Parts: sequence; structure tokens; C-alpha cells
Amino acid sequence: MRWSLVLRGVSAKCDADLYGTTASFVPQLGKPVLDLLPPPPKRVLDLGCGDGVLSAELLDRGYEVVGIDADERMVEKTRERNVEAFVKRGEAFDFEAKKFDCVFTNAAFHWMTDQPAVVRCVKQALGPNGVFVGECGGHGNIAALREAVRHVLPEEPDLCPWTFPTPIALREMLEIQGFRVLSLDYFDRPVECPDPADWLRTFGNCYFRDRDPEPVVRAFSDVAPDFLPTSPTTGTLMVDYVRLRWHAVL
Ligand code: BEZ
Repeated sequence: MRWSLVLRGVSAKCDADLYGTTASFVPQLGKPVLDLLPPPPKRVLDLGCGDGVLSAELLDRGYEVVGIDADERMVEKTRERNVEAFVKRGEAFDFEAKKFDCVFTNAAFHWMTDQPAVVRCVKQALGPNGVFVGECGGHGNIAALREAVRHVLPEEPDLCPWTFPTPIALREMLEIQGFRVLSLDYFDRPVECPDPADWLRTFGNCYFRDRDPEPVVRAFSDVAPDFLPTSPTTGTLMVDYVRLRWHAVL
């Protein structure tokens, strides 16, 4: 798959206006996770719904859907798709008596810093036999890309907020909360990225802090070919994504 991005982000999150056009590969690649859900009718929570593309897809498939995201603008975008959505952090949400049959999450869990707390909230949000399906960056995700950034910013500690769990750590988080793990897949999913600078502008705002991003982006662009893998078929540079995909039930 080829993708191209032209934008800037905000610290530790993506730009809600630009995300839909430049990062459309994210929900596209997350669609197989939807297929892990039991068939509708079911009440589904989209945890870290982003701009709501997959929440809307769930609605289209016949589910009752509620989205939550920590980013207000993302929640607005989700509501524009006629999905009920709320600003809530994954580590601290509670729907009290209004339980869900399923919780779904795609490419959001790794932005959440206290992941055991997230799984605790998920458990509390689910009714009996509740289902939790999801996908996030797994251990080693974007290691080559981050190495390239470190080469450009050697004086910086790694400021980015992501946590990419190992399969063992994720399984433990789930099982401690009483989930039975039906499947847990850990796999490489490199994605073609003709211009890695676009990736950094979109997702790497945490690296820029108070500095002008463009010199960093240019320096990163220059070294990226020395760090990133290339597609064996097209020779295009690739972002070294690693995924963890799970299906768990209470
Ligand atoms: C990911 O989907 O793996 C990802 C996206 C943005 C920043 C870091 C990781």
C-alpha cells in the first residue's frame, strides 16, 4: 500500500483536520479487526475512535456505536459522522450502568500511557461475556524509524508517548482482568512510505517540542534511506510497523 502525508500535528496527537486525508491508511488497515466482532445487533464502544471512520463503518454494519477519544477535535469529527461520541481518556472512562457488549480499538491503545488502567476500564464497561477486540503497535514497532530520529536528535531522550506492548505483557493485562484470550497475533506489517518526512510531520510532533520542525524533518529525510527497509517489489521506503491484534472475552 502506498500513502503520502502532508501536514503538521500537535504534541502527542494527530491533527484532526488533516488526519482524515493523510492518514487514511490507518482505518483502512484496521478493518480486519472489525471482522473479529460478533455479528450485530451489539452495542460497541470504539475506544480511541479518532476521526470516526471505523465507528461509522460499525454503524453501517448495523451495530449501535459509541466512540470515545481524548482529543476534542477528533470527537467532533466522529459526531459529524452521526456517531455518538464523547471526550474521554482511555485510562479513565466509565459508562456506569450502560454496559457494552463489545469494545473495539484500532491504532489507539499505544497512545494510552497507563495500559493496565485502560484494560480495567474496558472490563468495567463490558457486560457479561463481553468481547474486547483490538490492534495496536506491538513491541519493536517503528524501531528503525525511531533509530533514524535518534540519529538526527542524538541529544534528545525519546520524548514520544507511545507504549508498544509485548504479546506477553498484553496477555497478562487482559488475563489479570479476567479476559480469556482467544487469539493474540504479533506480526510485522511494513507500510510503503514514499516520503518518510510526511510520517514525521504527521505523527512525530512530540520530537519537535519548541523547535522549528522543518530542519529536523529535512535531516530525518536525508538519513531515512540508511535506516528504513525498502519494499522488495517496488524499492520504496517502508515504515517498519509491527502489530499486535487480539480477540478476548470475559
Ligand atoms: C502506529 O500506528 O503504529 C503508530 C502511529 C503513530 C505513531 C506511532 C505509532
